[in-house]
Amino acid sequence: MKKIYPFSLLLITALVCFQSCKNAPSQPKAGIEKTAYGILPDGRAVDIYTLRNENGMTLRITNYGGTIVSWTAPDRNGVYQDVVLGCDSLSGYLHGTPYFGAIIGRYGNRIAKGNFTLDNNTYNLATNNIGNHLHGGIKGFDKVLWDAQIVDTDTPSNPTLRLKYYSKDGEEGYPGGLQAEVTYTLLKDNALNIHYEAITDKPTVVNLTNHSYFNLADAGKTTILDQELVLNTPMYLPVDSTLIPTGELRPVKGTVFDFSKPTKIGARINDTSDIQIKYGLGYDHCWITARSNSGTPENIASLYDPASGRLMEVLTTEPAVQFYTGNFLDGTVIGKGGMPYKHRTGLCLETQHYPDSPNHPAFPSTVLRPGEKYESTTVYRFSVK
Ligand code: BGC
Repeated sequence: MKKIYPFSLLLITALVCFQSCKNAPSQPKAGIEKTAYGILPDGRAVDIYTLRNENGMTLRITNYGGTIVSWTAPDRNGVYQDVVLGCDSLSGYLHGTPYFGAIIGRYGNRIAKGNFTLDNNTYNLATNNIGNHLHGGIKGFDKVLWDAQIVDTDTPSNPTLRLKYYSKDGEEGYPGGLQAEVTYTLLKDNALNIHYEAITDKPTVVNLTNHSYFNLADAGKTTILDQELVLNTPMYLPVDSTLIPTGELRPVKGTVFDFSKPTKIGARINDTSDIQIKYGLGYDHCWITARSNSGTPENIASLYDPASGRLMEVLTTEPAVQFYTGNFLDGTVIGKGGMPYKHRTGLCLETQHYPDSPNHPAFPSTVLRPGEKYESTTVYRFSVK
């Protein structure tokens, strides 16, 4: 038999180790990376930022509209897959989407007829939704280029992207120059923390949110109707036929709006015996919590996909959430991989103040004055069940 010298043994062991390391799945490295995403018609460059945590959750966020383009979350087998609707490239967003993944401002949801009065001054906002003002107007915060900054944190495992936008006095009809700031932080526990801030130089109104369309099963290939929702909200706001709140706060108990226990979204979505379902063409309403704004994010909603096991909890400092079931998706918007997003293939859980608050003195105020700071935090946390 041939003699093997200790040195050869060492060499063989080293080679075996090298081979197995090469074949082992590499541990994802937490961090944030910037890549060019495209050019706007006015020549400005747009970037996209990839945020990754050490579990492998990955978010791609562009500074055009502060838009979340993709977001991977694990299923019960640990397979990470995209869970949001969106486009393959900047041009998709420039051609127009129903606010896929974008930051919404200055005012999330509707202001009736685009008018409101503040300190005895009446303001006329841009109207873009059957005579009403929706999601900040014709060119809301979803269609502007934000200044982006990668934030150096003490914990590199929490990649953080800060976006800033200065909205001029009079933009879309709003009073006051508004400096808005939105900070996205991807946390170790597969949660995205979104922190919103704003200051103004004149009294104005502010209601910021994010408009991601979630589909925990397959990012929009099939409907969201079999996914289960819990809404921790004893009341909702009935609307008129143009989706403006009537002013009433109605208990959900005993109605098709009751999601206090896990309920399939599709269970009662077509129950038009409730006129509110007719008006919304499904769910497109604001649900409100019983608590006052505590400053600490609290659970307002949980979404669960029984097929994949994905669970998403929504925690917020906001007093309400607009739950929208993609009723206006009709296959005409083509998304990632050439996929037409059909009816109800994505849903939104937009944490916010109540729609049309500037015209309802009884609703929690959305007024921001010079010297004050608007602050709001929402956390979307993923796990499996
Ligand atoms: C609104 C819907 C609207 C959708 C996007 C939601 O926040 O409530 O009525 O159609 O955004 O277009």
